[in-house]
Amino acid sequence: MCGIVACVGDSNAPGVVLEGLKRLEYRGYDSWGIASLHGNSISISKKVGRISEAAAALPAASVSIGHTRWATHGGVTECNAHPHTDCSGGIAIVHNGIIENYSALKKSLELKGHIFKSETDTEVIAHLIEEEKKKGVSFARAVGDSLRCLEGSFAIAALDCASGAVIGARKNSPLVAAFDGNGKCFLASDVTAFLQHTKKAVFLDDGEMVSLGNGRPVFTDFSLREIKKTPVEISWSSEQAEKMGHKHFMLKEIFEQPEKIAATMQNRLSGGSITLKEIAPVLRKAKQFDRVVLLGCGTAYYAGMVGEYVFEELCGLPVQAEYASEFRYRKPAVGKKTLAIAISQSGETADTLAAVREAKARGATVVSIVNVVGSAIARESDFVFYINAGPEIGVASTKAFTCQLTALAMLAVSFAAESGKIGEAAVKELVGGLRMLPQQLEAVLQESGRIKEIAKRYSDRRNALFLGRGVNYPIAMEGALKLKEISYIHAEAMPAAEMKHGPIALIDKQMPVVFIAVKDRSYEKILGNIEEVKARGGKVIAIANSGDSHLQQKADEIIFVPKAHELLQPIINAVPMQLLAYYIADIRGCDVDKPRNLAKSVTVE
Ligand code: F6R
Repeated sequence: MCGIVACVGDSNAPGVVLEGLKRLEYRGYDSWGIASLHGNSISISKKVGRISEAAAALPAASVSIGHTRWATHGGVTECNAHPHTDCSGGIAIVHNGIIENYSALKKSLELKGHIFKSETDTEVIAHLIEEEKKKGVSFARAVGDSLRCLEGSFAIAALDCASGAVIGARKNSPLVAAFDGNGKCFLASDVTAFLQHTKKAVFLDDGEMVSLGNGRPVFTDFSLREIKKTPVEISWSSEQAEKMGHKHFMLKEIFEQPEKIAATMQNRLSGGSITLKEIAPVLRKAKQFDRVVLLGCGTAYYAGMVGEYVFEELCGLPVQAEYASEFRYRKPAVGKKTLAIAISQSGETADTLAAVREAKARGATVVSIVNVVGSAIARESDFVFYINAGPEIGVASTKAFTCQLTALAMLAVSFAAESGKIGEAAVKELVGGLRMLPQQLEAVLQESGRIKEIAKRYSDRRNALFLGRGVNYPIAMEGALKLKEISYIHAEAMPAAEMKHGPIALIDKQMPVVFIAVKDRSYEKILGNIEEVKARGGKVIAIANSGDSHLQQKADEIIFVPKAHELLQPIINAVPMQLLAYYIADIRGCDVDKPRNLAKSVTVE
């Protein structure tokens, strides 16, 4: 949801900001803009469209701020693109988030004579700061005092022409500062924006401001009380945020899965057992929990649904996956004996963060499964399990999903073992299964050519159904989500047996039905569902275990996957779903990495 970048101290600050914005484009891509300081004025370049297509030759400057937009308030126009300025043009602002009380603020500023140029909520911040500055206070004081008037969420970068200062601040939206030790300072929504320049980063917490300049960021609260913060060294490399010869980030990330799943397990498996040092205190008290809730949004929620099956099967506790976005609007039966597991790639999803806060407020112990180190959800959880998937740039989540499933399986096995619900032999069997995953995923990726051929035959369809049962039902949900979000084909998923309670009316010769039909406890039943579709002329695309010749005869298309432990099979089955959606979207000419209307990190509620 919008990307912010700022650079101070580089003679090519506009170029650094432009490159940084290109790396953050997954956060929003309807328009972009950069403001730079030139002597005693601020120059602004704004454009509707994608920053990746920008070949702007921007005049050199050593102070710049920039923004790539995902519109919330106001249509996609050049005027609504950030940066926004005050009446004098001496203050420029970029913002990620939503200012909920902007209408009231705007009205009162208009009464004081301020003239607004855009329809955005953001512009009020520039005018508020201008108004505060009239009191004769410093720019930093004017920013801090203005921010205290704002309701809602924000990460901002503010540039002041008079002092040349750049100030960043956050409340419920991500912001990270960085410095290279040689006089350059950076500010961004995500570390990938500045990885080429430095890996020394400092994550801001809510209510904090940062002043860039003098070679090192200085942190304060909104009342300008200084805060000591410790820099962290980011382990991601800038190459990891490149396509590395793949046509799209999504394809690169799909193909990275064997390596990334191995990275999720690295240093956590020893012999036939699992050691999760980072959550050891939770595991030690495993017997004390009487309920598990799994919280996430979108793909991360589907990971939670798989986790629900796995925890239930291994731990025998009441387990529930919940949409994080719904959680705090109910009265969930969550208390001191609840283990809450929050799942998030970005660690910044506003709804998941709010659910973490709600669970903590109700006394639950919160473990988060997160990819981005130092992100808000990671910081606010009691314990964090980092999945180590590396930067995920494609808007559609792929490798983070399978790494989340791997982490959940490891967590569930450890939890079950510690609470005495499963014995050594079962742990050993599951660890053996986990160890085989990277190799098995390689085998699935080798089917990509075949999946591409299937994609060619179905890329013109307008609808699709995805059916699975048990632990594979969430994978059907994920398959449908992947297809709809990147190819814009309408897709629905349901437990296979539910089809005959209504959706079967949709089946005709045009309807492809993707079945997850691996040899598990529901295999025979799924065969029955396949017959029902065939009898009505539907086209069956089956994901089946290698060598299933019976199914090969029945299905119109078959994609073979290796047989894994039943509870780990979803990790394997997710991959053909991703490849099918990817190839169909690519054949249809869709912008796979930046699907319309989407942004990768949903930092507004
Ligand atoms: C779908 C997708 C989204 C995210 C969801 C949660 O491909 O990427 O559904 O899974 O927005 O994001 P995170 O995991 O960052 O909390």
